[in-house]
Amino acid sequence: MNIAQVDYDGLIPNNVGLGQDLRVKHALEKWHPGYINWWNDMGPEGFQDSLVYLRTAISVDPKGWAKFDYVRMPEYRWGVLLAPQHEGRKIPFGMHKGEDAWQEVPGEYRAMLRRLVVIQGDTEPASVEQQRYLGKTAPSLYDMRNLFQVNVEEGRHLWAMVYLLQKYFGTDGREEAEALLQRRSGHADTPRMLGAFNEKTPDWLSFFMFTYFTDRDGKMQLEALAQSGFDPLSRTCRFMLTEEAHHMFVGETGVTRVVQRTCEAMKAAGISDPNNIEAVRKLGVIDLPTIQKKANMHFSLTLDLFGNEISTNAANAFHAGLKGRYREDRLKDDHKLESGTYPVLRLIDGKIQNEDSPALSALNMRLRDDYVADANIGVGRWNKVIAEHGIPFEIKLPHVAFHRHIGEFTSIKADVNGNLLGDAEWEKRKAEFLPSDSDREFIESLMQPQFEPNKFAGWIAPPRVGIDNKPGDFEYVKIADA
Ligand SMILES: [Fe+2]
Ligand SMILES: [Fe+2]
Repeated sequence: MNIAQVDYDGLIPNNVGLGQDLRVKHALEKWHPGYINWWNDMGPEGFQDSLVYLRTAISVDPKGWAKFDYVRMPEYRWGVLLAPQHEGRKIPFGMHKGEDAWQEVPGEYRAMLRRLVVIQGDTEPASVEQQRYLGKTAPSLYDMRNLFQVNVEEGRHLWAMVYLLQKYFGTDGREEAEALLQRRSGHADTPRMLGAFNEKTPDWLSFFMFTYFTDRDGKMQLEALAQSGFDPLSRTCRFMLTEEAHHMFVGETGVTRVVQRTCEAMKAAGISDPNNIEAVRKLGVIDLPTIQKKANMHFSLTLDLFGNEISTNAANAFHAGLKGRYREDRLKDDHKLESGTYPVLRLIDGKIQNEDSPALSALNMRLRDDYVADANIGVGRWNKVIAEHGIPFEIKLPHVAFHRHIGEFTSIKADVNGNLLGDAEWEKRKAEFLPSDSDREFIESLMQPQFEPNKFAGWIAPPRVGIDNKPGDFEYVKIADA
């Protein structure tokens, strides 16, 4: 069988030869009903019978892996898709650098590896749970379709991680696969594992910010795991990254279209002061300072996902050859990091300052720095739209010490520029930096559904091009009568 081709004959589409791997096939078939139950309980609320114009992978080669068609979401062909194996691949970093990549789990790293897979796996269903009510307030059928595409692909990412657990981790892998269906985003007793995945995604601006900022954390983690010496993990992540790109596209263009609509409305009304919030809101669009506050919130929550700046776990995972750096294969150094330092922003004597730390311990910090640089690119594009309309406003990512709940800056309060604030001053000023109840209420008031083809809610501009080059009036979702 050509590895690029996907076998769609059985219950579980795959390019991993499940037909010849009966133990894993049966394990996944046993897991499947629980997954479908989870999807029906926790997936998009209210549109399960609607026909959605979705892409499905039919091959994993770089060209033409996506096929578009109308699908009811519960009938989406979730499957196990790995990028092709590279013949003779070597472990690219750590103490085993240069040895043959592992095709089986190395016994001494079993627990560490399982934990990496479970943590990644847990984020995938979490985001589906967080986004489950958004269909009802979609600003257009185009946006609704994009939401559902993200949702089914996050579901597939769960499949990707569950395949690894079922195939390589025996009984405890099976138990972990079950537990991934039991935890619930935001649940008091059985929450998802990471903080940002227990927050609410209550409105569409949050959704766009989430897919821009938080899915981008996913990209960074997947890039680091795609370097793994454990080859099946590397191959899984490489394919997931092709899907992840669309999620960040949805976020970046979503925010761009919100910004654009705001700027257009301001210009048409002759409002040049972006801080005249009341006047801008009267136009039925989201004022730029509120968009900035939303960005502040989602960016800071996402930074927490990178963990402690100084981390023994990260050092161990790198040293063992399990989790690399962002684009490890393009870096020019010894790929062992046993000597060398990396500057880490720390709180020293009550001041935020850089300190050189052992490079191996600073890998979370390094990945976070790479993330911040990557996240800044799209922000530049948003600002270009604002500048084109001649409005004096610039969206800026807040300082990394702002609004943190994990790591070096947990114990302090800082403003968006990194100036330390006392508790009382923080309380007094936090509505300057983060969405307030009234900001949230205003955004919520705009979230009126727009389900007619070629129409868009008033607070967001239409996209420049359709999905799969479809024309503007294309019916991306055929909504079934309730
Ligand atoms: Fe994902
Ligand atoms: Fe994603």
